Amino acid sequence: MTGPLRRGEASITVCPDGPLLVRGAVRLEDAEGTEVDHDRNVIALCRCGRSARKPLCDGSHRGSRFRDPADADGIAAALAQPGGPADDPH
Ligand code: FES
Repeated sequence: MTGPLRRGEASITVCPDGPLLVRGAVRLEDAEGTEVDHDRNVIALCRCGRSARKPLCDGSHRGSRFRDPADADGIAAALAQPGGPADDPH
């Protein structure tokens, strides 16, 4: 599935050495399922662990040693691993 988002769709872009960009109208919840009110169409989620505004990215990844090429083959391989990150950890 490629191309511009259609109404009601959302996407996640894995940025090389950086955050996950969540685009679209998405419901954001905390760990207990409590909805976090927001009006953003793009949310950058930290995946380097250095942000002072977790779970949001604050740009700190730029000064870190966090490296991940975020290439499609690597992501597909991770998704294919049984018991790996593709499974819901809850
Ligand atoms: S990914 Fe940007 S601060 Fe972690």
